[in-house]
Amino acid sequence: MIHATLHQLAVFEATARLGSFTRAAEELFITQPTVSSQIKQLTKVVGLPLFEQIGKRLYLTEAGKELLKTCQEIFERLDNFEMKIADLKGTKQGRLRLAVITTAKYFIPRILGAFCEQYPGIDVSLNVTNHQQIQRRMLENQDDLYILSQPPAELDLHSEPFLDNPLVVIARSDHLLAREKNIPIKQLNGQPFIMREQGSGTRSAVLELFAKHKVNVTVRLELGSNEAIKQAIAGGLGISVLSQHTLISERTDSGLVILDAQHFPIRRRWYVAHLSGKRLSVIAQAFLEYLIVKSQEIGTSAWQNPVESRN
Ligand code: PGA
Repeated sequence: MIHATLHQLAVFEATARLGSFTRAAEELFITQPTVSSQIKQLTKVVGLPLFEQIGKRLYLTEAGKELLKTCQEIFERLDNFEMKIADLKGTKQGRLRLAVITTAKYFIPRILGAFCEQYPGIDVSLNVTNHQQIQRRMLENQDDLYILSQPPAELDLHSEPFLDNPLVVIARSDHLLAREKNIPIKQLNGQPFIMREQGSGTRSAVLELFAKHKVNVTVRLELGSNEAIKQAIAGGLGISVLSQHTLISERTDSGLVILDAQHFPIRRRWYVAHLSGKRLSVIAQAFLEYLIVKSQEIGTSAWQNPVESRN
């Protein structure tokens, strides 16, 4: 392997991660033939095929999987080295990789903005996705820190709760139940409902509560975006259950209300997590501490959302 270059390893890592020569070429700003020839040379050095192409899809071979793990470790060590050096020079520099669940996008960018003002030398990548995708990213050790509300029990994680993230029933303000108090959960039976997509933590929490109380809503529509669900509610397609944080940006005249239904809100919290075995970079550690402190300050004001609550 002494003959493999760092550039070849970077090309291989991008191709393996993105599952495509073309996308790796785009990400690295090089041509597709360059990617192919770098992979060919690396394959020669390793002495075993790294990829298998079946139809249009690229699959990693056993050797490819081992090499990918090794590359990720090498690049992580190099990133950390770079950050340590920057730290020794008295400047915090480097890259912060965050992956957060969909609802954290109502909150994290504000904190990130303030953090980046303090450390202008850092480069941030923020990936916003659902719980299932976060878990996949964790398995692949793709990020420094994760923000989510249901840390997967099967992974060895270090996680710390930092803010409440309750799920509430949201309806259009002219809904029949909008003025009712303490609505029995059974009243939701048969209600037209807009559900989050498979893999969403919101969806699994809602389904669990409904199964427990034998509630059968009529799922009219499945949507992969909290914003789209709010629009669908406003459009009269049904009710839904979403994190209360999704209402933060709404105005009082948004036409949405929170229903005062029994067993709601579903109480959950946001956690900031990282893989237990991971050595956090200087930047990631600084952000983690900043997040815990700042979320307490911003958290309380975030609750003053103007949407009418019938609770
Ligand atoms: P989800 O998570 O995007 O996976 O539904 C959102 C949340 O738990 O707040």
